[in-house]
Amino acid sequence: MRVDFNVPLKDGHVADDNRIRASLPTIRYIREQGAKLVLMSHLGRPKGERKSELSLRPCAEVLSRLLSVTVDFAQDCIGPDVSAADRLGIGDVVSAAVDQLGSGQILLLENLRFHNEETKNDADFARQLAALGDVYVNDAFGTAHRAHASTEGVTHFLQPCAAGFLMMKELEYLGGIMASPRRPFVAILGGAKISGKIDVIQNLLPKVDRLLIGGGMMFTFLHAKGIGVGRSLLEEDRIDMARNILTVGGDKLMLPVDCCV
Ligand code: 3PG
Repeated sequence: MRVDFNVPLKDGHVADDNRIRASLPTIRYIREQGAKLVLMSHLGRPKGERKSELSLRPCAEVLSRLLSVTVDFAQDCIGPDVSAADRLGIGDVVSAAVDQLGSGQILLLENLRFHNEETKNDADFARQLAALGDVYVNDAFGTAHRAHASTEGVTHFLQPCAAGFLMMKELEYLGGIMASPRRPFVAILGGAKISGKIDVIQNLLPKVDRLLIGGGMMFTFLHAKGIGVGRSLLEEDRIDMARNILTVGGDKLMLPVDCCV
């Protein structure tokens, strides 16, 4: 099951466990069915490097506390390839950990993004993840917009695939407010880049009464309005796009009245 445990950490501890709590209904349901549950997630953006400060181990501890059961933790998300394992005389610890799970037991895999193949949606990496289970469940709503090995690639190698309860809840909620919103309907968008949000902005603008833009991408909008943004994040190649959105959005589109540059 793909979850989104991309939680804020402070001093090696989970600073906000909301995302872990949000996955509990699906986790509980799967355990109640007697399945062995293998959880996988990314945490931060380690860019293919093993960074101990971005280990998912603290999330296993939180999950264990929330469920009052032991949650096992695997030091990686895939094992070494078979030839390397033979050469080095080591077993595939991940598969072995999965095999050892009993009915209703949980294993959380180490950060998927310690491997570059995750964000590259590498087919072989996806195949290795898929080999760990019989059924795939995606409950990582916060990551559903990414076509990565654990979200998209894996579905080519593992059937059946299903949405978890969190995914269903969010999609139903989003579908509902988009189809018949209570007014005034105000959307608040953050994030670093306009380039990643342009489709969302264009979709939302005709439907909302106000669209509030915050986060790093506000600077490109402010710049497009002729306001100095110092050395803050600026998408130079999106300034025209920002200008165009400002024209189309008119009074609907609101930028922060003050900020630190
Ligand atoms: C998020 O926190 O927005 C999601 O977990 C996705 O993370 P990402 O932007 O690093 O892919």
